[in-house]
Amino acid sequence: MNESFERLDQDLRTLLSTPVGSRRVKITDLTPRDGQQCKLATRVSTDDLLPLCAALDKCGFYAVEVWGGASFDACLRYLKEDPWERLRRIKEVMPNTKLQMLLRGQHILAYKPYPDRVVRKFVEKAVENGITVFRVFEATNDFRNVEVAAKAVQEFGGEAHVEVNYTISPVHTLEKWMEYAEQVLEIGADWLSLKDATGIIMPFDAYRIIKGMKDRAKELPVLLHTHDMTGASSMCHQMALLAGVDMIDTVLSPLAFGSSHPATETMIAALKDTPFDTGIDLKLLEEPTRITRDIGEKYSEYTTKYAGVNAEVLKHKMPGGMISNMVAQLKEADRMDLMEVALKECPKVEKDLGYPPLLTPTSQIVGSQAVFNVLMGERYQIITQEVMDYVAGKYGQPPGPVSRELVTKIMGDESPDYSLRAGDLADPGDWDRAVKDLGPLAKSDEDILLGVLYPMQAKDFLTLREKGDLHS
Ligand code: CO
Repeated sequence: MNESFERLDQDLRTLLSTPVGSRRVKITDLTPRDGQQCKLATRVSTDDLLPLCAALDKCGFYAVEVWGGASFDACLRYLKEDPWERLRRIKEVMPNTKLQMLLRGQHILAYKPYPDRVVRKFVEKAVENGITVFRVFEATNDFRNVEVAAKAVQEFGGEAHVEVNYTISPVHTLEKWMEYAEQVLEIGADWLSLKDATGIIMPFDAYRIIKGMKDRAKELPVLLHTHDMTGASSMCHQMALLAGVDMIDTVLSPLAFGSSHPATETMIAALKDTPFDTGIDLKLLEEPTRITRDIGEKYSEYTTKYAGVNAEVLKHKMPGGMISNMVAQLKEADRMDLMEVALKECPKVEKDLGYPPLLTPTSQIVGSQAVFNVLMGERYQIITQEVMDYVAGKYGQPPGPVSRELVTKIMGDESPDYSLRAGDLADPGDWDRAVKDLGPLAKSDEDILLGVLYPMQAKDFLTLREKGDLHS
C-alpha cells in the first residue's frame, strides 16, 4: 500500500515550486444533465434549462453536459418534448461551449444492445444536432462494446471520452484498473475518464488509480467523474489533482453534493491562485448559480431524501436514482417495510453477477432483482429478463464469475458464451421495425431513432406531435 504513495511526497514538493496556473485544470459542468438528474429526477423542461445554458456558455468550461442518461426518457415520457429539439435549442444558446452527452456504448441510451449500424447512425445524428463530447462507457467495462461508438464519434467529428467505471470488489484490483486503462488506450480514445457513478471511491484510491493512469496515458488527458454519496468527493478531486488529473466534473452549488457532484464554484475557488487555477472567473458563475437555485426551488417536489450524503452507500453501492426506483417498486407492492432488507440483498446479487460496477443499466438490473428476491422471500424464484440477458452477455462480459447456481437456474447445464460482444447479440431488425411501426409519424432519422430506442414512448409522443397536442 505505502509503495503507491512514495511519489505523493514528490508530488507535494514539486507543487511548491510550480507557478500559479501552470497546471491549469479543466472543468466540465454537469448541471443541466447529471446535476438535475441526481437532484430533480431529470424533470426540468427545456424552457427552464435554456437561460441556464445561455449563462453557462459565458463561463469558459471545457464542456457542459446537457444530454444523455435519462433525458430522452424524461422528455418523451413526462415532459412531452422532443429530445432532439431540446439539443438543437440548447446548441443555439451555447455557441461557445462544447456540448457533452453520455453514451452507453452499444446500448446507446437504453437497456438492450443495438446493432453497429444503429449505434453509428445515432452518433452521426447526435453530432449533427450539436454534441461534441461523448462520454462513452459500458457498465461492466467490456470495452468491446465501446469501440464501435468511440470510433464513430471520432469519424463524425466528435471527441470520444472513454470511461472506466469504478467499483469496489475482490476482482477490481489496482492491476485490473491499469488493464482497463490500457484497453482504453488501445481503442484510441481522446480522453481517458475514471468514472465513479455511485460515489464510493476514496481519496487515496483516487490518487493511486489516477497516478497509474497518468503514467500509462502519456499524452492522453485523464479526467475524474465522481459523485458525492459518501461526502468524500471533494477530497477525491484534490487527490486526483495531486496525481496529475487534467479535468474534473462539477455541478453548480444549488444542485451539488450528495448524489450529485462537488460544486463548481467551490472547486474553482479552492484552486484559485494555485498551480491548478482554472482561469474561470467566479463572478461569471453568479448568474448561472442564481438560475440553478431558482430551478431547484421550482422543481423541489422531485427531490428525495436519497439525494443527500449517505455513507451507507459503501455497503450497498446503489446510486441514489436506483434507490428511488427501489422505493417506488416496494411502495407499489405495499411492502416499504422491506426497504432495508432489499438494500442488504443488493451486494448478494452483485456478487452472484460477478461484481459489475453499479450504474445504469447494471444498477437497475441488480436493484430490481434484489427487490424481487426479498418480495418473494426466496432468492431467484423470479428471475428478471434483464438478469437473464446479463448472464447471457448482452450487457458485456461480467467482470468476475457469475454464480454457477444462478447460471444453472437460467440455462441448466450450459454455460454462457462471452466470446461474442453485445453488438453481435443485438437484434438486426430494430431499425426496419421502427420504420414500419412509426410509418408516416416519423419525419426524419431522428424520429426513427426515437422509435428504435423507446418504441412505446416514441409512438405515443409522435402521435401527440402529429395531432399538435404537445405542450410548448
Ligand atoms: Co454521473
